[in-house]
Amino acid sequence: MSAAMNSIASNLLARIERCEAKIGVIGLGYVGLPLAHALHQGGLPILGFDIDQAKIDAIKAGRNYLVHLGDELITTLRDSKRFEGTTDFGRLGEADVIIICVPTPLGKHWEPDISYILQTAEAIGKTLRAGQLIILESTTYPRTTRDDMMPAIMAAAGERAKTLEIGSEIFGAFSPEREDPGRKSHSTSTIPKLVGGLDDASTELAAAVYRKGVTTVVPVKTAEIAESAKLLENIFRAVNIALVNEMKIVLDAMDIDVWEVVRAAGTKPFGFMPFYPGPGLGGHCIPIDPFYLTWKAREYGHVTRFIELAGEINTSMPHYVIDRTAEALNEQGKPMKGSRILVVGLAYKADIDDVRESPSFELIELCKARGAQVDYYDPLVPATWAGRKHDLKMSSVAYDDKTIASYDCVLISTAHSKMDYSVIARNAKLCVDTRDAMRKFEHEMGSRLARA
Ligand SMILES: NC(=O)c1ccc[n+]([C@@H]2O[C@H](COP(=O)([O-])OP(=O)(O)OC[C@H]3O[C@@H](n4cnc5c(N)ncnc54)[C@H](O)[C@@H]3O)[C@@H](O)[C@H]2O)c1
Repeated sequence: MSAAMNSIASNLLARIERCEAKIGVIGLGYVGLPLAHALHQGGLPILGFDIDQAKIDAIKAGRNYLVHLGDELITTLRDSKRFEGTTDFGRLGEADVIIICVPTPLGKHWEPDISYILQTAEAIGKTLRAGQLIILESTTYPRTTRDDMMPAIMAAAGERAKTLEIGSEIFGAFSPEREDPGRKSHSTSTIPKLVGGLDDASTELAAAVYRKGVTTVVPVKTAEIAESAKLLENIFRAVNIALVNEMKIVLDAMDIDVWEVVRAAGTKPFGFMPFYPGPGLGGHCIPIDPFYLTWKAREYGHVTRFIELAGEINTSMPHYVIDRTAEALNEQGKPMKGSRILVVGLAYKADIDDVRESPSFELIELCKARGAQVDYYDPLVPATWAGRKHDLKMSSVAYDDKTIASYDCVLISTAHSKMDYSVIARNAKLCVDTRDAMRKFEHEMGSRLARA
């Protein structure tokens, strides 16, 4: 325990260490659910909050709505006396530590939408009491924890806020989630966790919470360092993916195989890290988070040219893929208009069922705009539902010899690892592959295979 701690902080620390402090996790989605599970495994009692009653009901029924995590994770929580799920935000006062894992999307004009954080902050403020630690995990621009979240909590606390000083009675921190759904090599408990508090006591308290469920906890000096580190990680990916996508466009024109080039460069043991091209960016992080910084930078008179350029290249990729698809059809004497195209893979990446920001939706819309008849196949996404941008009202078709043979073109957008690609190799009249899924069939397919 450091000198920065008063009796309220040291009491909370002792309760965390003895696993007596109750942890409220708000938002039981891709981030909150595995986090709740990891901290529960570490012995802490968990009170999970979500506005979505269906999620709370699914937990009670022992069914995991996040398929890639499996039902066992849910049944472990459900069958434990140390876990409870609720939609009753009036119970937030019961939690000693509150961890916010709500969405942070972009608005219509690509501006940060922190309204979910602010709504949650308001709910926390209503039952705020001395000795509570609030940790933000949602990805956001630097200073959100200090300048947006905490003031919103204090404003909602009203008169009570006058007796609650941040750093003495109330504690706050930011700890970025680095979840990569579907990745088998790491899990919430093995990915090192950055923790930055609004003050030293908050950092120490938040680090103690995570040490219960995460192997490596890395305290940093401030919440702002933790917030910015998360953005740097995601911007690094966005920029490098854009770079390799640009390389792909140039190398395609020169008839050089970009995948072979990346693999060759990847043999260098230092100074290079392979990134792979694709049909565009997807998911809740990489296409969105960089623009949180872009927006904030303007307040300080700066333009984030690198980030915007990467965004421009990445968002143009679906158009490039569709141009290449039209060319490949043309080679076979077919116009895109009237052609039957099957988009394979709707999820934004392999082996998960998450379709948020998936470029496959853009590919489908672009094919339709050019007059093609489009279907999709995805073993993990049986039907589409209305999202923020798209409402395709489509269902996955079958995946068999006859179905595949009935399309003029199969466009691989996401390459799930458990799919049998020989069905495409045997039957597709044309396959446009954006993921290098058909490499081992390239001789068998000959001119029926194109890359994009
Ligand atoms: N999914 C990832 O891989 C990932 C990785 C790193 C960081 N993040 C960040 O973590 C945050 C959460 O992302 P996610 O993928 O878990 O989102 P998600 O949509 O899977 O989960 C969010 C959950 O919050 C609930 N919710 C929405 N509004 C709420 C409110 N006002 N009060 C309580 N619950 C509410 C939703 O019902 C949902 O269950 C985002 O900021 C995201 O950028 C996500």
